[in-house]
Amino acid sequence: MLTVLVTGANRGVGRAMASAFAARGDRVLATCRNPADCDGVARLAEARGTVESYTLDVTDPAHAETLAEILADQAIDLLVCNAGALIGRGGLAAPDYDAKAFSTVLMTNVAGPFFTVRAFLPHLRRSGAGKVAVISSAMGSAARARGDAYIYRASKAAATNLAVNLAIELKGLGVAVGAYHPGWVRTDMGGAEAEVSPEESAAGLLARFDALTLERTGVFEDHLGRPISF
Ligand SMILES: NC(=O)c1ccc[n+]([C@@H]2O[C@H](COP(=O)([O-])OP(=O)(O)OC[C@H]3O[C@@H](n4cnc5c(N)ncnc54)[C@H](OP(=O)(O)O)[C@@H]3O)[C@@H](O)[C@H]2O)c1
Repeated sequence: MLTVLVTGANRGVGRAMASAFAARGDRVLATCRNPADCDGVARLAEARGTVESYTLDVTDPAHAETLAEILADQAIDLLVCNAGALIGRGGLAAPDYDAKAFSTVLMTNVAGPFFTVRAFLPHLRRSGAGKVAVISSAMGSAARARGDAYIYRASKAAATNLAVNLAIELKGLGVAVGAYHPGWVRTDMGGAEAEVSPEESAAGLLARFDALTLERTGVFEDHLGRPISF
């Protein structure tokens, strides 16, 4: 049984992953940013005895540090940095690209994993075989650029880069790190036309996390294990 912390577990891919971990008997620390709107996580905790719900807004380093203290002395085997935000899907002239949009998306998708990993590194080291999964996106791959969704694409390029740098720094500490594309998933972010259900994505991602080792640290691959170019 693993102890797994999932950020952004209230809905979408995060909720599906939390549910899949619980279904196979893992202990899940399912986190949600807004205590007033944590129904998804609360329902999971009610339904599955191995799910515990906690509050964590990944853009606020103090939140991660507070939760790290609440979980002091505990080991975390896998940290899944899943929380993500997408604002603006258009080209340069699209009206969505203001300073607040840049701040929200970059803070959530880039600073979020950074603050979360930093806060829980002692817990990951305590595991003896700790792993970090950064849920990035193929939209951050320069090879797949399409001249749109500027902030999101840039944020996910940075998230993948962050994961690769973390992989190098943390290898010597015994912590493996991977970056993952969950597929195009039918969630609020992916939309109803997307190709993959949250459950299929989660099943694939769990298999990829199981396959992550120190020898494979620094991978960037999708939920089916297909490598993605940076
Ligand atoms: N869906 C896709 O096709 C797709 C493709 C590639 C990559 N991804 C990535 O996969 C991950 C999950 O995406 P999704 O489709 O499940 O998105 P989603 O349906 O929009 O759900 C996003 C989740 O992130 C949480 N979140 C947002 N900002 C947060 C913050 N500051 N602190 C903590 N939690 C926060 C949300 O919480 P609230 O419920 O409080 O809003 C929600 O639980 C994201 O990183 C996304 O970029 C998705």
